[in-house]
Amino acid sequence: MDATTGVSLELDDIQAGALYERPSPYVGTYLLLCIRDRRDGRELVRRLRRLVEPATAVGPVGETSVTVAFTYRGLEALGVPQASLDSFSPEFRQGMAARAAVLGDTGESGPERWEEPLGSPDVHVAIAVLSPDETQLEQVAVRAREAHAELPGIELIWRQDCHQLATGRTSFGFKDGIGQPAVEGSGRPPTDPRERPLKAGEVVLGYPDETGDLPPMPVPDVLGRNGTYVVFRKLHTKVAAYRSYLRARSATRAEEDLLGAKMVGRWQSGAPLALTPDEDDGELGGDPRRNNDFGFGDDPRGFKCPVGAHARRANPRDALDHEGSVDVRLHRMIRRGTSYGPPLPEGVTDDDGIDRGIIFVFAGAHLKRQFEFVKTQWLNDGIFIGAPLESDPLVGPRDGVGSFTVPQRPIRRRLQDLPPFVVTRGGEYCFAPSLSALAWLADLDT
Ligand code: HEM
Repeated sequence: MDATTGVSLELDDIQAGALYERPSPYVGTYLLLCIRDRRDGRELVRRLRRLVEPATAVGPVGETSVTVAFTYRGLEALGVPQASLDSFSPEFRQGMAARAAVLGDTGESGPERWEEPLGSPDVHVAIAVLSPDETQLEQVAVRAREAHAELPGIELIWRQDCHQLATGRTSFGFKDGIGQPAVEGSGRPPTDPRERPLKAGEVVLGYPDETGDLPPMPVPDVLGRNGTYVVFRKLHTKVAAYRSYLRARSATRAEEDLLGAKMVGRWQSGAPLALTPDEDDGELGGDPRRNNDFGFGDDPRGFKCPVGAHARRANPRDALDHEGSVDVRLHRMIRRGTSYGPPLPEGVTDDDGIDRGIIFVFAGAHLKRQFEFVKTQWLNDGIFIGAPLESDPLVGPRDGVGSFTVPQRPIRRRLQDLPPFVVTRGGEYCFAPSLSALAWLADLDT
């Protein structure tokens, strides 16, 4: 029971990695497996079950975790009864590739150009192993590999390693993972003191959500309860193009940093523009007690932080309170992203052809009104910010080129010819079941 909220989350049944932050620094690996034989699939789940820690077993941030999730096809391959399969959310049943046009994954980001086997029907099981160091990672990764060794009906079809860059930042140079909502009953306090923790049912199935209702939950109860939907996306970042774009439009290095910060809504250190609009403040950026303690209510026109900046679009905070039509709390996102690939060396503006970017991970009870809503309505579309033709300057999809408005006095600055800086390499909608559901899946006898 959470002493502050009175909510009792069954932490001993929830996968730790689905509920809690990854360590920092971290190293990790993502594995995708295909189940070619049902019996081997169930044996795999039985073995994986022993590797997954419940949320009660981990202390504050910093420990190794193994998270196991399944695609719709994966549950099908395990022999989950049809009535049960039909009870999952429609988006999950369709899978991410089928939702590509809705999500803006077209052209260079289209599923026909995704990295194999991402988006294919062969993706059944997704495993994420995240650890504070290589030694612990290797110990657990060996056990994860053993879980599918000697099971001829299981094939490892994809592996992606990730690691925190030495700078502690992501490939574009920004600190990430700061803006996160707290969850009632999780035992972790909010980092934004103005935001009440979200009702548990926004993240974990089987509990009331912000609407006061229980979110639709897959049946039977043992399969759905204490589970959560997980989105993963491999997002390639065009760092050289991003740097060149800013350089060509800036007279000085300071102006370049400012334009970059205007696009993100935070400075590279993580310091929010809302608190320090004119210059970076490294101490503020690195201070978890202060770097998420802000709103946009006093800056409706975006002179400090543009209304079109990435982090403001993704979480408009109190800026939408006056509108009355949209409740921001229904569209909050738990992010568990990591970085992959080496950094592009400081100052380089030529593309070296190396793949680098982010493994974007979302966890939540509502694929459609959380992940898909934020991605389509707030990041891809400009209507809600009053600029119908503008998509998110950093991660928005663009057919050709776009623009980005920086409100300033006496006249706003409009950046033109904005190319896409992020390309989707693939991804999938998954379901991370509870520990008891993993046991149930392993014991299926259909
Ligand atoms: C390569 C792609 C992406 C990059 C480089 C990126 C980068 C960032 C950065 C630097 C921040 C500010 C730091 C922070 O508040 O944690 C941020 C915040 C955020 N991003 Fe992204 N992001 C990417 C994709 C996405 C996508 C696809 C979504 C949603 C569908 C998203 C949702 C968010 C949210 C919800 C926040 C927190 C806003 C807040 O609470 O203030 N991001 N991102």
